[in-house]
Amino acid sequence: MTHKLWGGRFEAEPSQLLRRFNDSFAFDRELFEEDVEGSIAWAQALVRAGVLTQNEASTIVTGLERVPAPDAARESQTDESHEDIHAYVESKLYEDIGDLAGKLHTGRSRNDQVATDLRLWLKRAAIELEQNVIAFMHTLASIAGEEAATPMPGYTHLKQAEPITFGHWCLAYAEMLRRDRGRIVDAMARGDQSPLGAGALSGTPLDIDRQALARSLGFARATANSLDSVSDRDFAAEYLFCASLLLSHLSRMSEDLIFFTSDEVAFAELPDALSTGSSRMPQKKNPDVLELVRGHAGRIIGELTGLLAVMKALPLAYDKDLQLDKEPLFRTRATLAAALPALTAFVAGLTLNRQRMRTAASKDLLLATEVADSIARRGIPFREAHGIVSARIGEAIRAGKTLRELGPTDAIHKEDLDALDVDRALSKRMAFGGTAPQRVRQAAEDVLKQL
Ligand code: ARG
Repeated sequence: MTHKLWGGRFEAEPSQLLRRFNDSFAFDRELFEEDVEGSIAWAQALVRAGVLTQNEASTIVTGLERVPAPDAARESQTDESHEDIHAYVESKLYEDIGDLAGKLHTGRSRNDQVATDLRLWLKRAAIELEQNVIAFMHTLASIAGEEAATPMPGYTHLKQAEPITFGHWCLAYAEMLRRDRGRIVDAMARGDQSPLGAGALSGTPLDIDRQALARSLGFARATANSLDSVSDRDFAAEYLFCASLLLSHLSRMSEDLIFFTSDEVAFAELPDALSTGSSRMPQKKNPDVLELVRGHAGRIIGELTGLLAVMKALPLAYDKDLQLDKEPLFRTRATLAAALPALTAFVAGLTLNRQRMRTAASKDLLLATEVADSIARRGIPFREAHGIVSARIGEAIRAGKTLRELGPTDAIHKEDLDALDVDRALSKRMAFGGTAPQRVRQAAEDVLKQL
């Protein structure tokens, strides 16, 4: 028998049409642990408020601890369905300890209850996310240290521009992840508040020390306004924004890697254990992990805009629209938990074709800036040096030769042509943030030290 939370004033049983549309148990069962945790803290607060005796609270707490985790398989066989996770927990508590269970909801509402559950759940999701981001940063910085002197072409407009090192490329993404991590930590510090004790909307009439209650649940403080407490979902939107921006970064990385591992570019080889084949074309090895990350980035941006659209016109305080806040969060956490470790392993498993990268980065055209810089070092304005080299490149292309093959001119000296050396070009980029191997090694160490 499932226990009812409401219905005394109604003259008809809830229709199946209502149940199918209104019930949220099918998905909010995900909040089971948090719901029990919040209820235990509330039972203890009720003792301090003089509502429950210590004995009653002990019976309730023991009963709550015995509530079995919802089991979808069992429910489908026994048609044991509940309106939501709160109804489920209360119903199980009744089955176990009888009418005393009915005292637990004194002074509380599902409105402050669900907001509390969700914040507890999100704190865990955020910690899990931060751990995964840290692990990825660690992998990137380690590879960066090893590949600090591995030249490859750098691109602007996806046209070869100037040489960089593979380590430098890795650290560019480590920087994005560093900001992502900071954003997650900031958002969670802001959301680290307990709505419990806000009641349905106006506050609880009981003598509850909400700050102590908040601390007993591991929150930094209690929310300051009861109306805002039950209707605020900023913390959820911020989590989705953090996830969206993080996945946008990972999607850009995936895009780079799809290019680097393409048959045409072939700077790196896909890891067998993390690649897929084709059912038709026997030769294929495909970067599905990268493509899925790119696709999921689009979906998570959709989850964020979806939640913002649900929220934007809600009158204070609680509205049932808010029940729709959960699935985007559940889906996003599950996506991130699968995508981040897979992409981390993918990057760690790449086999670099260092010779091919070096050859591509050593081409005259990528080093044209070096020649212009060399000329400018003799006191010739850089604009003029740029024009001289650019004109010479035109000649070289028309003649089908390299700059070196064309040889020196009055304006382009032999020493300028000596600048056509990839290692020399790289080692010059020693200023903070540059791609010089020594600088990249230092930057990689800095990232590792900060983790
Ligand atoms: N299942 C509901 C939700 O997720 C719980 C809160 C219900 N509150 C209410 N006033 N109907 O939002």
